[in-house]
Amino acid sequence: LFISFISSVTPKLIRYTSILSPSIQTKNVAVLGASGGIGQPLSLLLKLSPLINNLSLYDIQHTKGVGVDLSHIETQVKVKAYVGKEQLSDALKDMDLVLIPAGVPRKPGMTRDDLFITNATIVANLVSACAKNCSQAILAIITNPINSTVPIATEIMKAYNVYNEKKIIGVTTLDVIRAATFVAEAKGLDSLRVFVPVIGGHSGNTIIPLLSQISPPVSFSQQELDSLTSRIQNAGTEVVEAKAGTGSATLSMAHAGARFSFSILDALNGKTGIIDCGYVASQETEFKYFATPLLLGRNGVETSIGVGKLSEYETKLIEKAKPELNANIQKGIDFAKQYL
Ligand code: NAD
Ligand code: LMR
Repeated sequence: LFISFISSVTPKLIRYTSILSPSIQTKNVAVLGASGGIGQPLSLLLKLSPLINNLSLYDIQHTKGVGVDLSHIETQVKVKAYVGKEQLSDALKDMDLVLIPAGVPRKPGMTRDDLFITNATIVANLVSACAKNCSQAILAIITNPINSTVPIATEIMKAYNVYNEKKIIGVTTLDVIRAATFVAEAKGLDSLRVFVPVIGGHSGNTIIPLLSQISPPVSFSQQELDSLTSRIQNAGTEVVEAKAGTGSATLSMAHAGARFSFSILDALNGKTGIIDCGYVASQETEFKYFATPLLLGRNGVETSIGVGKLSEYETKLIEKAKPELNANIQKGIDFAKQYL
């Protein structure tokens, strides 16, 4: 399965201009938070995709300009811009995939959990609108803290009686991309041919790269394991510090979000063997939510591939992650209960 992951990812990097077979049905995709640091480059990458028919841009500000700008690009994707709460329902009608990068990013010294106070309500409001207007769409949540915002999204969909566990996914693709990049750099490999599963959550210690399960296999000294694990876990903070108060990862996240979208759209179109990591409601781990490699299909998440055979080192990383991940999940569930 991991081999099919590699072969499914590599061509995606050059998918933007390819000609589609007539059997492919193009899909409708919305970006909520489309004027932001992630939203704009993500929308650009989506505008270049032959897999998309309509691209719906929603934000509380500036979407008209972003929309007109993108609409001059000579691809077939039809761009429509929506601004402000009163246009949200229209933005969501007939969507197959809704990407949510709306909300505030970190500044140096902040944790992702510090964003909860602002972003929990933003995600709850947007997901409520999805429940009412496009309950069948796949919801891909980018807004931090993902460990909590995905449980919030789930509780909201349940409250509207439209919950489908196959269709709510926290986007952790950036962790997978970083892990492949850093491992390839350290070992002199081609990063496009390296797949490192990353499991757990999406914050500090809860990000757990499975360096024992890299495809193709790579071996590490204890020192390499420690330094690579720490770099992957703290890569978001590396960007936040380098940006020095002006935001967090936007360009690499836009690429990650686009790559994840193309996996979903390929799977919705019936392409088989598509595997990507994502943070979802978990059946097979002790956690209520957990990121694992996921087999994607026509309805979204077909099944979790699970965590595989863990090394002793990775088992300890999971133990260490437990308190934070469980607390983040519970915080999201508790918030949703009082929001509803
Ligand atoms: P940004 O501030 O540049 O953009 C956010 C956008 O959201 C803005 O355009 C803003 O107007 C919009 N917005 C705010 N409230 C809204 C609402 N109610 N409805 C619609 N739009 C709304 O921030 P950014 O750098 O794009 O980051 C966005 C989020 O993504 C942050 O929470 C950040 O932590 C998260 N993020 C996640 C990952 C990941 O791996 N999942 C990676 C990077 C960033
Ligand atoms: C990331 O991993 O880059 C994002 O979660 C943004 C952040 O706050 O680090």
